[in-house]
Amino acid sequence: MAWKITPLLCLLVCVAAGGAAQPRTQLLNVCMNARYHKEKPGPEDKLHGQCSLWKKKACCFVNTSIEAHKDISSLYSFDWDHCSKMEPACKRHFIQDTCLYECSPNLGPWIQEVNQSWRKERILNVPLCKEDCQSWWEDCRTSYTCKSNWHRGWNWTSGYNQCPVKAACHRFDFYFPTPAALCNEIWSHSYKVSNYSRGSGRCIQMWFDPFQGNPNEQVARFYAESMNGAGLHEAWPLHFCLLLVLLWLLS
Ligand SMILES: *[C@@H]1O[C@H](CO)[C@@H](O)[C@H](O)[C@H]1NC(C)=O
Ligand SMILES: *[C@@H]1O[C@H](CO)[C@@H](O)[C@H](O)[C@H]1NC(C)=O
Ligand SMILES: *[C@@H]1O[C@H](CO)[C@@H](O)[C@H](O)[C@H]1NC(C)=O
Ligand SMILES: *[C@@H]1O[C@H](CO)[C@@H](O)[C@H](O)[C@H]1NC(C)=O
Repeated sequence: MAWKITPLLCLLVCVAAGGAAQPRTQLLNVCMNARYHKEKPGPEDKLHGQCSLWKKKACCFVNTSIEAHKDISSLYSFDWDHCSKMEPACKRHFIQDTCLYECSPNLGPWIQEVNQSWRKERILNVPLCKEDCQSWWEDCRTSYTCKSNWHRGWNWTSGYNQCPVKAACHRFDFYFPTPAALCNEIWSHSYKVSNYSRGSGRCIQMWFDPFQGNPNEQVARFYAESMNGAGLHEAWPLHFCLLLVLLWLLS
């Protein structure tokens, strides 16, 4: 009798194990629950300009990718030129940052729930490759801003962000003395500059050559697995189950 129900038990254990492993698979190939994101990533052949890197698999719609390139876009009514005209070499990094945020399906390991009116989830501490942060900072050094956190504290009375009266305009390197200060602080720690380099498979690239595939897929997989270091803990019921099956077959 015991031997007859063993396979059934195994099946149950396997199903339970599969269920327990679920959160892990949901870290990969996912879109966050925010204002403009698609529910699930998918191909978007016509993604615009700098967002086109993600066209094979994207969390953004075409309209979002077009808006991402506009000044005071309908996405967030954010004025890059709040002090004076932002240098184009600088602005392209902000466009790329917007594309990564809106389009990337590889940010799952860093998605956190938030209690905000305009989004249910955000990204936190995404390990941005150090060169991507460095060039962002270098190209923006000579542009001007009045704040080091661009999420909070603006005067929105005119419908777009204006510098609050107390905040004086200075060069970027006044508010962001280092690349890390820029990348980590500007969006309230959405990024945490990585010590790893582009191509290492251990940091997220804001820029990449889509003809070589999307390097961030591998990076997300790596962090999803190490976060569930767990990979091992969650696999035990499965191993136990396989062992039972083996014993049953041998008996
Ligand atoms: C883009 O279009 C989708 C529907 O196709 C809509 O839900 C979304 O709000 C639009 N986004 C923008 C930025 O207008
Ligand atoms: C979110 O904020 C609202 C209002 O501040 C509060 O009532 C609610 O309990 C919060 N929810 C969570 C999950 O923190
Ligand atoms: C906000 O900006 C408006 C003009 O757009 C100005 O009249 C007002 O004083 C500003 N308020 C603060 C707190 O900076
Ligand atoms: C960054 O990497 C360098 C060399 O690869 C190492 O010496 C340094 O300790 C690392 N820094 C951090 C903060 O991990």
